[in-house]
Amino acid sequence: MCGIIGIVSKKQVVDRLIDGLECLEYRGYDSAGIATVNNSEIVYSKSAGKLDSLKNKLKQKPINGYIGIGHTRWATHGEPIEFNAHPHVTKSVAVVHNGIIENFAEFKDALLKKGINFESQTDTEVIAKLVEEKISKEKCRPLEAVRLTIKKLRGSFALCFIFRGHENFMVATRRGSPLALGFGDGENFVSSDALSLSIFSKKVCYLEEDDFAKITSDEVIIYDSDGNSVSRDMHTLYTDPVNLSKGKYKHFMEKEIFEQPEVISQVLGTYLNASKEMLSLPPLPQSTEIKRIILIGCGTAFYSCLVAKYWFESLSSIPTQAELASEFRYRSPVVSKDDLLIFVSQSGETADTIGALRFAKEYTKNILAIVNVEQSSIARESNWVFSTKAGPEIGVASTKAFTCQLLVLKILNIKLASDLYKITAKQRSNLLKGLLELPRLFSEILSQNENIKKLCKKFISSNSVLYLGRDILYPIALEGALKLKEISYLHAEGYASGELKHGPIALIDKSMPLVALNPWSKVFEKTLSNLEEVKARRGRIILLTDKKGRELSKDLTKSIFQLPSCSDFLTPILYSLPLQLIAYYTALDKGTDVDQPRNLAKSVTVE
Ligand code: M6R
Repeated sequence: MCGIIGIVSKKQVVDRLIDGLECLEYRGYDSAGIATVNNSEIVYSKSAGKLDSLKNKLKQKPINGYIGIGHTRWATHGEPIEFNAHPHVTKSVAVVHNGIIENFAEFKDALLKKGINFESQTDTEVIAKLVEEKISKEKCRPLEAVRLTIKKLRGSFALCFIFRGHENFMVATRRGSPLALGFGDGENFVSSDALSLSIFSKKVCYLEEDDFAKITSDEVIIYDSDGNSVSRDMHTLYTDPVNLSKGKYKHFMEKEIFEQPEVISQVLGTYLNASKEMLSLPPLPQSTEIKRIILIGCGTAFYSCLVAKYWFESLSSIPTQAELASEFRYRSPVVSKDDLLIFVSQSGETADTIGALRFAKEYTKNILAIVNVEQSSIARESNWVFSTKAGPEIGVASTKAFTCQLLVLKILNIKLASDLYKITAKQRSNLLKGLLELPRLFSEILSQNENIKKLCKKFISSNSVLYLGRDILYPIALEGALKLKEISYLHAEGYASGELKHGPIALIDKSMPLVALNPWSKVFEKTLSNLEEVKARRGRIILLTDKKGRELSKDLTKSIFQLPSCSDFLTPILYSLPLQLIAYYTALDKGTDVDQPRNLAKSVTVE
């Protein structure tokens, strides 16, 4: 993971390196550091902990420069302490790195044998030492030194280098990890993502695998792996920098939860045309040619895939499976050219998902990306892209991106079912009308947030929480549990209601809170029976249901949150919202760092 930034300018860069790192902190926040070249010498400052700690250090001991690199770290090799923070600096070079060098140990051994000492436990320091050797011993020029070093490395990396004696020249390269270049007036930029560049420049391009960029304040020259000068497509960024602020909210997560009615309206406005009865979608694979759908993602995105499996099989009658990206390619799955593979990812940069996508591309051209970041690696490597249009999501816990993933998957589901004549025009119209209800339903739930806050008090003294759902709400129970553990550090597990009696019921006693999702539906009574079994064992049930469900559950528990009644197919989207609020308010009670929970990062760019 980690975020890297580089600026070459005719103006001082340190403040802007920090601004850039602020935008990149979602990629890791274990430590941060910057390096510049000033009066021909490399100077640097780094600090363990969040970016604020580096900022304080720089206030006490400022550094200057017209060229600089910066890094925010998610620890892979070595603890999150200052020695392991980037940049890694030698006499002639400073480097920042995002990724993992898999064969670093063999180089480290060889260098140690030559008497070269290491300060850190990182894989990255090896790169700095290898480049230093090339420059000082083999007398290579900096670009050549980097190129020869990179050739030997295995793993994934995005790297940015500055060099002693060079105040207007940096080198950037990548393999596996993303890297974007930004073009300014008398200055140029490098960053792990285009979003952070949007505060400096609207014109960007993306480096391709093994590209090298030689960057000065006036010029960027890109070389491919064979050393040929190449040009890469330019893109214009439309991100409004205002989107990157918390506005009136305390946390990005809170803002992202509360903006869902508006965001969902925008998504509906994009994909449903004016008459509201027709879809206006990006180009998508031919429905009639699809024999099977395989949905792939990680974490919350995987739970979207699981929900979609229920939808695709029941409405479109297409055999569908949902796969964890990190497992998929290592278990020799059978993929055929008639399969449609759908990769779901908020960031579009998740290494496990990219790995699965590259594996799948060997078997089929039917690769569809459902991503929130439209210029991400997953989008660029797919044949079709269906954007979730949720806008930038900064909080580590995925909220609006999840509901928009569900929305887009449901729209795709309706399109496939309609194209395959599995539903009539009337049924399609009713489904679309149902979707149009969502912004209102979301607002209704959000207006009752105080009631959810009260329910959360039930968790504060417990060590663990169970989430139960049946049928299409089972994946939502899994998502609710993930959200809670991720930001409140409370242990939580999601189960299919019917599975409780096959083991987890042993956990139930009077200290165990259990969040049950049970609106009126074809499985309502079955789940109610499961919940009676919990009550008989004195479990503390917190029930999320609708009006009819509430009437039928009044003897079950007093802790009920009533959601508006809606069609069955909307419940996964709707019931996600109170679970996001439960996680958020519990985390507030516990005093955890909601937007940057420990050990996590927003974009998981390592396997
Ligand atoms: O960017 P992606 O959607 O590919 O990320 C996948 C997961 O890492 C992500 O959903 C993670 O589980 C979230 N932090 C959950 O809130």
